[in-house]
Amino acid sequence: MRIYKVGGAVRDRLLGIPVTDIDWVVVGATTEEMLAKGFRPVGADFPVFLHPKSGEEYALARTERKSGRGYGGFTFHASPEVTLEEDLIRRDLTINAMAEDDQQNLTDPYHGQRDLEARLLRHVSPAFAEDPLRVLRVARFAARYAALGFTVAPQTLELMRQLSESGELEALTPERSWKEISRALMEDQPQVFIEVLRACGALKVLMPEVDALFGVPQPPAHHPEIDTGAHTLSVLQQAALHKQPLTVRWACLLHDLGKGLTPEEEWPRHIAHEFKGLKLIKAVNERFKTPRDCQELAMLVGEYHTHGHRALELKPSTLLELLQSFDVYRRPQRFEEFIAACEMDARGREGLEQRSYPQADYLRGAATAARSIAVQPLLEKGFKGPELGEAIKRERLKALKAYKEQV
Ligand code: CTP
Repeated sequence: MRIYKVGGAVRDRLLGIPVTDIDWVVVGATTEEMLAKGFRPVGADFPVFLHPKSGEEYALARTERKSGRGYGGFTFHASPEVTLEEDLIRRDLTINAMAEDDQQNLTDPYHGQRDLEARLLRHVSPAFAEDPLRVLRVARFAARYAALGFTVAPQTLELMRQLSESGELEALTPERSWKEISRALMEDQPQVFIEVLRACGALKVLMPEVDALFGVPQPPAHHPEIDTGAHTLSVLQQAALHKQPLTVRWACLLHDLGKGLTPEEEWPRHIAHEFKGLKLIKAVNERFKTPRDCQELAMLVGEYHTHGHRALELKPSTLLELLQSFDVYRRPQRFEEFIAACEMDARGREGLEQRSYPQADYLRGAATAARSIAVQPLLEKGFKGPELGEAIKRERLKALKAYKEQV
């Protein structure tokens, strides 16, 4: 049996990037031989094993053939006769289809090294089309390696376009799609992920609500960049520059969906877009079975981001309602994330990226003032049940009035 390092580990070593996961391919072995060497089988789908000591993944060399829609529609063939070249040709990108032996001798039949140098994300063969998830993967790699100058090869983009138009993307499970989306959003240039998906027509299929924002104008006085899609990409870029967590990045991507629903005759104004967008945000969340914290923050940011921007003008009673909606008393972190998303929204405007956002500290101060109300003295005064709730609210309102006067 011959063992080779494959995929991302080879690619990233050649790029001079730290390697985290190592995948191995085993040529000339059977399942029985692997088990006899103490490897532990994993995954019902493919002959993949975990190394008894390192825990790294070792896959028997295999060929794959599509036999139906979706990820389940695969037949694979693994046997000691499958060659390394045969295994590599079924892979997604040439830069992911290189192998290395323990002497660091490179096997590179599909010119991955040439494409690394040319900074090109290029599919290996027509077998690319056998897994539609690869459309998302390529967009994710484009986001990850954008800073190094990588772009998608025109022929690969064309293949991605055909896959997007074929209806194959609809067969992806929410879990597989979300895994790619969430990883892509955590890259340094997540906006490139959305741009590439848009360029190949996949955005229209996966998130038509985001796609619809391109070409929708906003008032130039507030939004020098004008286009809502361009604004959304800048907000996402700001979120990455400021190292925001996934929840905030997801909320940034979806915050303005309501603007895609504005009738053209109302452009460039978007009256009540915050509220109108909620059903779209909910639909996208459900489509990808997004984790609960991402869902919640996206909905709250969608509904209240304009409140955030107008924080200093809000009446104490409106401020209180905002704080209550966020349950800042029990969920302080979520309110912090809301503030962050609002700030990214404000910075995601052309020429205004460096402008300070005093609303952030103001909102934090308001939350602290409302939170400072102690319940015990009210209990001692004899308040109970709904009356106690009302008394707490009255006290919080008083505190917010005092806060507003003092700032
Ligand atoms: N692969 C593929 N098609 C997929 C998933 C994976 O061809 N849909 C192949 C690629 O050769 C890839 C390898 O399997 O390099 C390992 O996949 P994975 O660990 O998902 O990706 P990496 O390339 O290692 O990238 P990352 O750094 O994102 O983990």
